[in-house]
Amino acid sequence: MEVTIERILPGGLGLGHAEGRTIMVALAAAGDRVRIRVERIKGNVSFASIEEIVTPSPHRVEPPCPYFGRCGGCDFQQMNYQTQLDAKAEIVRDCLRRLAGIENIPDFQITAAPNPWHYRSRAQWQYDPVRQRLGYFESGSRNVCDVADCAVLAPQLQSTLERLRARMMSGSLPEARDFRAVLGDQGVSISPAVDGEVADITRTIHGDSYRFNAESFFQANDGLLPQLIEAAIGEVKGETALELYSGVGLFTLPLGRRFARVIGVESDHRAAEFARANLAGAGLTNAEVVTRDVGVWLDDVKRHDLSRVSEKSAKALQDQIGLVLLDPPRAGAESRVIAGVLGLQPRRISYVSCDPATLARDLKKLIAGGYQIASISAFDMFPQTHHVETVVHLMFEATGEGVIANN
Ligand SMILES: C[S@@+](CC[C@H](N)C(=O)[O-])C[C@H]1O[C@@H](n2cnc3c(N)ncnc32)[C@H](O)[C@@H]1O
Repeated sequence: MEVTIERILPGGLGLGHAEGRTIMVALAAAGDRVRIRVERIKGNVSFASIEEIVTPSPHRVEPPCPYFGRCGGCDFQQMNYQTQLDAKAEIVRDCLRRLAGIENIPDFQITAAPNPWHYRSRAQWQYDPVRQRLGYFESGSRNVCDVADCAVLAPQLQSTLERLRARMMSGSLPEARDFRAVLGDQGVSISPAVDGEVADITRTIHGDSYRFNAESFFQANDGLLPQLIEAAIGEVKGETALELYSGVGLFTLPLGRRFARVIGVESDHRAAEFARANLAGAGLTNAEVVTRDVGVWLDDVKRHDLSRVSEKSAKALQDQIGLVLLDPPRAGAESRVIAGVLGLQPRRISYVSCDPATLARDLKKLIAGGYQIASISAFDMFPQTHHVETVVHLMFEATGEGVIANN
C-alpha cells in the first residue's frame, strides 16, 4: 500500500490516509510518498513502517546515525533541522487545539538548540549482560540495541559509554539493568557506581551552581537552559512563589532571587537535599524545600492542615501566591494537583512541560478554573527526537491583565 505523509503527529508518527483508513507511519517526513508495511491495527488506525520511499519529501535528509531505525532513541533524524522545529511547533499547537480545546492559540516561537548533535548531558544506557549489549532499547521493544557511538551524546558521555563498553568486553562491568550517567563541570557521575561511590557533580548554569548526581533528575540539554529558566520565570517578582516538582532546584535558585519567599515541593528526598544544599550554596535563606508528594502536600494545604507544613511555609501560604511554577514529569500533574493549584488561586501559573499532550490535558482544567494563557514558548531541548519542552504562562482572568506579556 502507498501513502502520502500529510503531517507529523504528537508522538512523532507521520499521518496518512489510504483505502479509507488512517495510517500512522514511523520515521516519516511530511511530503514523503511511501510504500508501507502495516505492523499493527487498532480500530480504524493502521500503524506502519516504511518499506520503500517512493518519492522523498523535500525536507528529508539521510539520517547520519548507523543505528537509526533500529535504536529507539531518535525518531526525527530523517528530517532537516528546520523541519524538525516546524513539526514540533505543530505538535504543540495540535495538542492545544485538540486536547485542550483552545481555539485562539497565541503565536509562539520554538527556540532552536544551539547544538542539534552531541548535546545530551544526561543518558540512560540499557545493559543486556547475556547478549553483551549496551545501548538503548530498540524502538517498540525491550531488546537492547548495542550502540558503540551515539550521535546525540555530549563527547564526555560518549567517552563514558566507551569506558563502560570496554568493561563489558573485559567482563568487569557490574551487573545492572541500566546505567545512568550525567555530566558535570568537571566529570561524570554514573549510577550504579562502576568504581567506588556514585559521585556528586556540580554543574554551573546561568551563573548558579547545582550539585547533584546521576540518581537525581536534571535537564538533559544544557545548551538551552538559561533561556528555559528565563522563560519559566520571566520578569515576575513578588512576595511568594510556590514551585512544584522542584528537583535539585534548577528554578528554585532564580526564584529565590526574585521572590521574598519560595516554597519548593519535591518527593525525591535526595533531590530535595541537593536543592537545600544548592540554595545554601547560593546564600538563599528565603526558600524552603519540602520533601513530599505534591498531591499529598496540596491536600494538606487545602484542608488547612498546616501542622505538617513548616511554620515558614504556613505563613507564606496565608498571603496570595504570586506565582506557582510547576514542572511535572512526562505524565503531567495529577487531577488533585491541578485542583490544589486552583484552590490556591495564584496570580500567575508557569507550567513547564516535556509532554505537550499531558500539558494540554492539564491546561484545559486550569482554563476551566478561571485562568487564561498569557504566553507560550517552546524549546528544542531534544533535537533528533519528537520531544519538545514547552512553557506556558497563565494568568487569573479576574486580573484583566494583558494576554501576551511574559511578565
Ligand atoms: C521534570 S522533573 C523537574 C525537576 C526540576 N524542575 C528541574 O528542571 O530540574 C520532575 C521532578 O518531579 C519529581 N516528582 C515526580 N513526581 C512527584 C510527585 N508526585 N511529587 C513531588 N515530586 C515529584 C521528580 O523527582 C523530579 O525531580
